[in-house]
Amino acid sequence: MRGLALSLSLLAASSTAAAATQPTCAKGLYMVVARGSEEPAGTGVTGNLTSQIAARVPNSQVVPVDYPATLSDYEDSEGDGVKAMQTLLNNYGQACPGSKIAILGYSQGAQVSSDSVCGSAGEPFIDDKAMSDEVMNSVVAIAIFGDPTHVANLTYDRGTSVKDGLFNRSSASVDQCKKYASRIISYCDKGDIYCDSGSNLTVHHLYIDRYGDEIVDFVVSQYEKSTSTGSGSNATATAPFPTTKPTSGGGSGSNSTAPTRTGAPTTSPTKGSGANMLTSSLMLGGLLAALTAVSQML
Ligand SMILES: *[C@@H]1O[C@H](CO)[C@@H](O)[C@H](O)[C@H]1NC(C)=O
Ligand SMILES: *[C@@H]1O[C@H](CO)[C@@H](O)[C@H](O)[C@H]1NC(C)=O
Ligand SMILES: *[C@@H]1O[C@H](CO)[C@@H](O)[C@H](O)[C@H]1NC(C)=O
Ligand SMILES: *[C@@H]1O[C@H](CO)[C@@H](O)[C@H](O)[C@H]1NC(C)=O
Ligand SMILES: *[C@@H]1O[C@H](CO)[C@@H](O)[C@H](O)[C@H]1NC(C)=O
Ligand SMILES: *[C@@H]1O[C@H](CO)[C@@H](O)[C@H](O)[C@H]1NC(C)=O
Repeated sequence: MRGLALSLSLLAASSTAAAATQPTCAKGLYMVVARGSEEPAGTGVTGNLTSQIAARVPNSQVVPVDYPATLSDYEDSEGDGVKAMQTLLNNYGQACPGSKIAILGYSQGAQVSSDSVCGSAGEPFIDDKAMSDEVMNSVVAIAIFGDPTHVANLTYDRGTSVKDGLFNRSSASVDQCKKYASRIISYCDKGDIYCDSGSNLTVHHLYIDRYGDEIVDFVVSQYEKSTSTGSGSNATATAPFPTTKPTSGGGSGSNSTAPTRTGAPTTSPTKGSGANMLTSSLMLGGLLAALTAVSQML
């Protein structure tokens, strides 16, 4: 099953004939994951979170975004990531209306996520359009951490940072993000070399340790909210999100089966391989190259 999801994502990402491939609709959550720079192909450390989420939301699928995730040609890599993520989301959204999607991204993958949802951050990045409302209606949670286009002091910001990230995000794009504020959590801590424009790489590697449980709880509760109000299958059409709705009483969602699909096979996520020291030092090396590249561009 893992092979199936993986080959679907590969096809979707790398082929212009992607539209021909029909995704399998998940009864639970369809989790699209964009890994961080220089992490090996797959979900990267974020797989730790998606496996916990999948354990709590049965019949979920985890699909990694297939993109280079390189630092040396960051703009192109990031742009490829946005194309691949938007293709996955569009294909799935069209094939599986009314189903529930979560987007997770770390570091470069966090920018891939925010650019996909909100449209391009702006120069020097490729001018991607934001996702359509139609598909976004199915997206119940967007959980990102260490986004280099982090904008400080927004309602969906989490963590200790009060500084903007290394790259700007245009105000038009921020406005688009704000439409989905209740579904987004964006973590950034003080000192993070990317999202806080700081100088501490270690901070950039600590989000899962520090906030993993919160992130998992958020995604699961967003999923549960989106299904518990929907005893009438119409709920997704008009009020896709019980966003500001304080239905705090719920939760026990006995009626939580989504009114969507026939049981789709669960794709069990890859076991988190763990952030290892090798990756860290690779990232540090790549970082210098990236910073040089960036300063040349600006
Ligand atoms: C965010 O808010 C804090 C506290 O009000 C402030 O010190 C900081 O300058 C703000 N950051 C930005 C980027 O505006
Ligand atoms: C980011 O935006 C600010 C304010 O709009 C601008 O002054 C600055 O030059 C921009 N920085 C980059 C790197 O584009
Ligand atoms: C970087 O952050 C980590 C984690 O908070 C901290 O332990 C370490 O002392 C920091 N390093 C520097 C040079 O500030
Ligand atoms: C769904 O909502 C629309 C618009 O509010 C309404 O016209 C329609 O009757 C509803 N359908 C069901 C099945 O409740
Ligand atoms: C689901 O909700 C309906 C109406 O709210 C109720 O009649 C039914 O018993 C519930 N089913 C379960 C399994 O809780
Ligand atoms: C991910 O999970 C594995 C196995 O549960 C664990 O060994 C590893 O430390 C975790 N990595 C992170 C970054 O939390």
